[in-house]
Order: sequence, then C-alpha cells, then structure tokens
Amino acid sequence: MISKEQLAQLRAETPACSEVLHFDNAGASLMPKPVTDYLHDYLRTEAHYGGYRTQAMRHEESEAFYSAAAKLLNCHSDEIAFCESATRAWDLVFYAFNFKPGDRVLTSLADYGSNFVAYQQQAKRLGVEIVIVPNDASGAVDVQQLQGLIDERVKLISISHIPTGGGLINPAQKIGDIAKAANIPYLLDACQSIGQLNVDVEAIGCDMACGTGRKYLRGPRGTGLLYVRKHWIDKLEPPMLDQHAADLIDAQSYRLRSDARRFEAWEQNVPGKGALAIAMNYAHEIGMVKIEQRIRALATDLRQQLNAIDGVRVMDEGHEQCGLVTFHCEPQSRSQCDAYAIKQALAQRDIHVSVSEGSGSLVNFQHRGIQRLVRASVHYFNTDDEVRRFADTIAQVIAVDSA
Ligand SMILES: Cc1ncc(COP(=O)(O)O)c(C=O)c1O
Repeated sequence: MISKEQLAQLRAETPACSEVLHFDNAGASLMPKPVTDYLHDYLRTEAHYGGYRTQAMRHEESEAFYSAAAKLLNCHSDEIAFCESATRAWDLVFYAFNFKPGDRVLTSLADYGSNFVAYQQQAKRLGVEIVIVPNDASGAVDVQQLQGLIDERVKLISISHIPTGGGLINPAQKIGDIAKAANIPYLLDACQSIGQLNVDVEAIGCDMACGTGRKYLRGPRGTGLLYVRKHWIDKLEPPMLDQHAADLIDAQSYRLRSDARRFEAWEQNVPGKGALAIAMNYAHEIGMVKIEQRIRALATDLRQQLNAIDGVRVMDEGHEQCGLVTFHCEPQSRSQCDAYAIKQALAQRDIHVSVSEGSGSLVNFQHRGIQRLVRASVHYFNTDDEVRRFADTIAQVIAVDSA
C-alpha cells in the first residue's frame, strides 16, 4: 500500500496537485518534478553546448532508458526500442509482418482506432484477413471464442490490453497462454497499461508490446517504447530503415542491427528519452504492484460515487477494471448533458478529464451504440478527497444543468 506519508511526498513532487484536479491520466498525466527538473536541466546544457556535445557528455542518461524499461517490463534491455509514440511503436512491428493473402490477424472490438486503420491498409495491400474476436458477456475479449478461432491461418494475435475509451482490462495473460500454446506471435497494445498495471511481459506471454511516455508513465510527450521478444527480433525487418537501424556496408548491402533498436530512427528526442528513463525508474521505485492497487481502488470508489448520482451512468465494461472511468449523464438529448459541456464545466473549475469519441474507440462504440463518453482517469497521486470532490462537482453541474 502507498502510505499517507508517501502519498504526501508524491503529491509534493507533483506541484500542480495543489492547483488542479487531474483526472486525465489516460490522456496525458502530470510529470513529477524529477522528470521536469531533468528536462529543464538537459535543455539548459543543450543551450550551452549544443545537442551533439551534450548527448556525448550525458550519454549514460539516455542509455538508461533501456535498462529502466527492461526492469519495468521484466525483459532484457536489448529487447527494447525507443519510439516517439505508442502508435509508431505498434506500427513498426505490425508492418514488419509479411502477411500473405488469406493469413489472419485476430484482434478485439476494443482495439485502438489507429490499429484498425493499419489493419485495413494491410488487408487492402496484402489480402490479410482481420478477424475480430467477439466479446464475452462482460465486454472483454472472449478467450474461449479466441481459442476456437485458432488455426493455421492465424499469423498474429493483436490485442489492446486496456482500450482507450473504457475501464476494462482484457485478459492479456490468458490470451498469452493461447498464443504460446499455438506458437502464434502476440502483439499487445499496452499503451494504457504500462505505468498503470504491473505489466510483466514474461508472465503475460506477449511477444511484442508498445507503450507511451505521457500517460500512466508520467513521462514527456513525444516519447514511447517498443518491446520485441528476442526470438522475434531477427525474424522481423522493420518497414523503414535508416543507418541507425542497419549498418550500410557498401552501395549494394546493409546489415540490420541484431537488437530491438533496429526499430528505431537515428534522430531521437534525446532529452525526452532520458526523462522517460527517470519516469520509469520513479514508477519502479514506488512499485508497480502498489501503483496498480491504488489506482484500481480509487477508480472503484469513483465508479460507486458516480453511479450513486441521479442521472449519471458509469459505462465501463469488463470483469477486471482499471483507472479509466467512463460515464455519461442523462438525458443525453439535453445539450447541457453533452460530454463536451461537462468537460468544459469541469475545466472552469480546474478539473481535467477527456471526452472519448471518434476513431480511437470507434469500432467499440459503434458496437455498443455509444457516441461519446466522459473519461475520468485516476492515478496513484490522486486522493479519496479528490474522488469525492469530483463526484460532488458532477452532481452540482448536473443540478445546475437541470435547473
Ligand atoms: C489503447 C491505446 N493504444 C494506442 C494509443 C496511441 O498512443 P500514442 O498517442 O502514444 O500513439 C492510445 C492513445 O490514447 C491508446 O489509448
């Protein structure tokens, strides 16, 4: 458990906590002071010495990114690549598969919108068939149905651990067991789960995973990571290469790197990389088990308190739920109950949430007949008091709206 004293310390290291109520951690969280201090300091050094000399002088700090990610995910440093976002990390590995016509990719209804765009592009280009595994009654991926779909045509299982627009946690480990038994590569979109849940790639059994810096890891924007299991690295040639990903030997030949950095580009957000290393070590020091427990407890309370308000409906699915809490206010036909109106009313009170709508959740929302939801996403540095204040504010906003 995170003690009261530790929580006070963590909040002190997140100075904005005293000014705003930040429930948008699934959008972009608040960076802790060690991360912002690092960025300020690094940029000051760059302003003085220039980018290249600074990088040479502070090389170990950006290199620490690989060991920090490996420690957090329980893998090896050479299985990690630095990318600018979760989407780009995911793309780099997805587009590395040489699918043949009739090959199948199994995915979920709640997969991220950008992933669906990529599925459709590769279906068009290569004739790969995208098969959506039905949900179980709770709204999570139905593992029995997934098992039933396994045959020699399936060349990839690609699942979002936590969807962008809801609180459910997909049964990543059970899916990993099926993938392992069938010897099918398993790509996990862990964009919302890394930094929120104790994501252990060994325990889950995924072969590739992507994450982003700015959300639950509390790192800077424009940073992300890719994990690729050693066994798969030399079987996957990234869709784009440069002279960092491969050594140019002569005018006719090149040699690919043997580690996961073959998925990287030469030019990188070096300050962001060092800062993300700090953010990951920060999370590791608090302890991912403790972080996960606290987030899940806060979110459970938030769901209960929101559900107790007349006119509020929590919409999260799944047996297992996480820190993303989605809801709408009724009657939705009234403009004041619109998710954007609620977001704006909250912003006027320095309370931050997102609205889930559009392509990110499109397939899932179309399936459920939903247009948009308010998404309040809690982190370990949030408090019981904030949960209460948030629920009270929603009740007030609705009361004002219906007056
Ligand atoms: C499940 C999921 N996957 C992928 C992404 C994309 O992450 P990024 O914006 O870092 O590319 C998001 C962003 O919200 C997400 O929620």
